[in-house]
Amino acid sequence: MVCFFSSVIAYLAMPQAFLFDSYSQLCKAGTLDPRKVNGKILVCLRGDNARVDKGRQAALAGAVGMVLANNEISGNEILADPHVLPASHINYTDGVAAFSYIRSARSPMAYITSPTTQLGAKPAPFMAAFSSKGPNTVTPEILKPDITAPGVSVIAAYTEAQGPTNEDFDKRRVLFNSISGTSMSCPHVSGVVGLLKTLHPTWSPAAIRSAIMTTARTRDNVIEPMTNASHFKATPFSYGAGHVQPNRAMDPGLVYDLSINEYLNFLCSLGYNQSKIALFSEGPYTCPKHIILTDFNYPSITVPKLDGSISVIRTVKNVGSPGTYRARIIKPTAISVAIEPDSLKFRKIGEEKTFKLTLNVTKASAAMDYVFGHLIWSDGKHFVRSPIVVKTV
Ligand SMILES: *[C@@H]1O[C@H](CO)[C@@H](O)[C@H](O)[C@H]1NC(C)=O
Ligand SMILES: *[C@@H]1O[C@H](CO)[C@@H](O)[C@H](O)[C@H]1NC(C)=O
Ligand SMILES: *[C@@H]1O[C@H](CO)[C@@H](O)[C@H](O)[C@H]1NC(C)=O
Ligand SMILES: *[C@@H]1O[C@H](CO)[C@@H](O)[C@H](O)[C@H]1NC(C)=O
Repeated sequence: MVCFFSSVIAYLAMPQAFLFDSYSQLCKAGTLDPRKVNGKILVCLRGDNARVDKGRQAALAGAVGMVLANNEISGNEILADPHVLPASHINYTDGVAAFSYIRSARSPMAYITSPTTQLGAKPAPFMAAFSSKGPNTVTPEILKPDITAPGVSVIAAYTEAQGPTNEDFDKRRVLFNSISGTSMSCPHVSGVVGLLKTLHPTWSPAAIRSAIMTTARTRDNVIEPMTNASHFKATPFSYGAGHVQPNRAMDPGLVYDLSINEYLNFLCSLGYNQSKIALFSEGPYTCPKHIILTDFNYPSITVPKLDGSISVIRTVKNVGSPGTYRARIIKPTAISVAIEPDSLKFRKIGEEKTFKLTLNVTKASAAMDYVFGHLIWSDGKHFVRSPIVVKTV
């Protein structure tokens, strides 16, 4: 259904007035001329000011609609925002086409139809451009992020204490809102944690995290490696262990568990002194002399400064049926990976087995950027997957 049909304009950055025009193209406050904008659909470029602010500036200047066009960095990421005027959000390639149409047509026209729900979008999921990325700058031996979950245009109950755009100008009040952000992604995982804790009350937080991470998927719904918002292959620095799969997390087979003392040792490695550690421990705790962070029993394996060769140790605990797990490794580029033992036999629940992963630089060349691989332990039924992340010195 066509809502309305109107001429469409955009401010196009001209070399002679570049700054002003490029601010106008972003539809920033104080840059739009109502004489040009009034009654038109305005095309605004994403970036700098808030997306909903662009719509507000367009509306204040008298625009009847807005087309929000992605800049290159936001690629294909399209968000459902609570705009204050009829608006449509288009991806970068469509945006380039729209700007070129406006530039070339004598009297460019546009219309905006009422929204419809589209199911089965492909590829999905892909990483949002705004999602925070690794490496972990504080503790590079521990991969961050751990996991990814839905966080784009998530509809949920909303407070009436503020308007849906969370901007002062917005006097609207809604019971439900569509929001994007890590703040929407995190509660999905928190919910999964709650469900897992109900199902497995004795599991530690580390065991629950391990179950969520090792069962995550790294492929999308076209069975290709998950991509970023510009359709390039994403890495564990974007998605950690992958996209959460709650049902798989119920039955991970094995978990990488951690005790309280291992967490305290981690704090020791960050330089926490006795009095600070006492805030976390039940009694006095003495830090060990030597802590090897690459051996922290995490469900991912990260070696940020591989110089020749390193062995990392991990321990897995059986939380499933008895069985024999075999290792399968996808090696990072130019790194050899050996595992010892490469088969683990579990007879009962709670049984633990330790293995050693040896990483060697095979190509003695200049320091490489981060490279990625993974380790999977499988008994044929469970697939316990850990990312391997390596940077050579
Ligand atoms: C941009 O969106 C259009 C749909 O409007 C789609 O056909 C096209 O594939 C998208 N561009 C890219 C590069 O994915
Ligand atoms: C996607 O990855 C490519 C290659 O690493 C990078 O150049 C591009 O900026 C990334 N796009 C987004 C939206 O993160
Ligand atoms: C630990 O560090 C804090 C400051 O960060 C200091 O106030 C405290 O005295 C220190 N405790 C010990 C036991 O060194
Ligand atoms: C890795 O290097 C170590 C020490 O240099 C060596 O003993 C081991 O055989 C190497 N392993 C592989 C898989 O290349």
